[in-house]
Amino acid sequence: MAFQHNRCPVHLLFHCKLEPVVLLLFVLGGFEWISTGLYLSPGMKTNLTLPAAIVNKGWKIQIGCQTDYLSHQQLIRAPSVHLRVPITSEKMQVQNLWGGLIYLLAPSQTRVTGVEMVVQQAVLAPYYKSAVTTADDWSQRRAAPSPWAELEFDNIILTVPSKAVRDLEQVDELAQVWNNIMKTIVELATKPLKFPRKERIVIDVQISHGWMHAGYPIMGQTSTAYLITNTTKIAGGMWGPIHELGHNQQRSCWEFPPHTTQCTCNLWSVYVHEELLGIKRTEAHSDLTSEKRKARMKKYVADGRKLSDWSVWTALETYLQLQEKFGWEAFKKVFAGYFEMSNFPHDNKGKMNLYAETFSRVVGMNLSGFFKSWAWPIEEITEEDLSHLPPWTDHPMAQYN
Ligand SMILES: *[C@@H]1O[C@H](CO)[C@@H](O)[C@H](O)[C@H]1NC(C)=O
Ligand SMILES: *[C@@H]1O[C@H](CO)[C@@H](O)[C@H](O)[C@H]1NC(C)=O
Repeated sequence: MAFQHNRCPVHLLFHCKLEPVVLLLFVLGGFEWISTGLYLSPGMKTNLTLPAAIVNKGWKIQIGCQTDYLSHQQLIRAPSVHLRVPITSEKMQVQNLWGGLIYLLAPSQTRVTGVEMVVQQAVLAPYYKSAVTTADDWSQRRAAPSPWAELEFDNIILTVPSKAVRDLEQVDELAQVWNNIMKTIVELATKPLKFPRKERIVIDVQISHGWMHAGYPIMGQTSTAYLITNTTKIAGGMWGPIHELGHNQQRSCWEFPPHTTQCTCNLWSVYVHEELLGIKRTEAHSDLTSEKRKARMKKYVADGRKLSDWSVWTALETYLQLQEKFGWEAFKKVFAGYFEMSNFPHDNKGKMNLYAETFSRVVGMNLSGFFKSWAWPIEEITEEDLSHLPPWTDHPMAQYN
């Protein structure tokens, strides 16, 4: 079936029932996008009837999923193509020159249940929602004319060009794969299974920086659409998207920027690949072969063990060595431990000492020698605090001491 989205004759009335929205905890802060499964063509106007409960309460209408601002020399699309309008009235008319999917933006800490929004005219989008859309519904709906499609699973929503999902038959299977991925991510983070706000990945022809980047939404370039919607491809490994989801799990209390910014997120990539996908770390990323790991460690030592060199893969080596000795359970206990703490130090030195101490207590060993061998600025007081614990002496860096 071929549709031309901008010529679709739409004189329809859509009722979108709002699901209960309960947003209590925000890691990233900010609001939540609520999908409608509807699309507006470029320049197409629509009238909305909105519930009084969300008027002048910080809610917005958003048209368009492509929210990155672009400042590239060479542009593939205009720098800004989405529109956000505060909801200030029960009757509103909206349009966006570029068109786009229609969203409601809920402010954080919001609870609204059982209210309806009416969208007078719009174009149907291929839209799947777990536990709502049946396989039969989907077989029709995936042909809907909007050029943008959304797959809303339990803890993540994928927004992709519709052409990437027109032939997607086993959507339930894909849902299961993503539900398992998200479950595995919170398992390592020791957080409740239900994300306080579903993560989002949005695909665009051009994004603000990188091949993909973290945030809400996580953004990725077009080819990624064919990875994240294909269970066969995912089963073969999906480092990048999990790396970005890992970024969204990073907490400043155990992050040492800039050293670990592109490092600790990879713990999630390694964990998901090994524990869920059954892909060993050596196979999960070409930079994690034993040879490369060993060479990196040697180079770090040869270059004089400078904390300034301790970043990305080199920094990850420290964590992998800990994991290989103490297992993922130790990491889970450490992450869980941080949820019990407050009044964190703000500087890297303070935070690194706290981490060394926390990890040492969790595993019942004095790890100060290990961290010092990686040039962490371990203080005497930390070493004294760990005096009752046996030291870890035969660690992988000891051979270079
Ligand atoms: C999914 O990926 C596999 C392996 O790359 C490929 O053979 C298959 O055609 C893809 N499926 C779809 C629907 O694109
Ligand atoms: C902890 O280990 C470090 C390095 O192995 C050692 O120098 C320190 O004395 C140990 N702390 C105590 C109090 O045993």
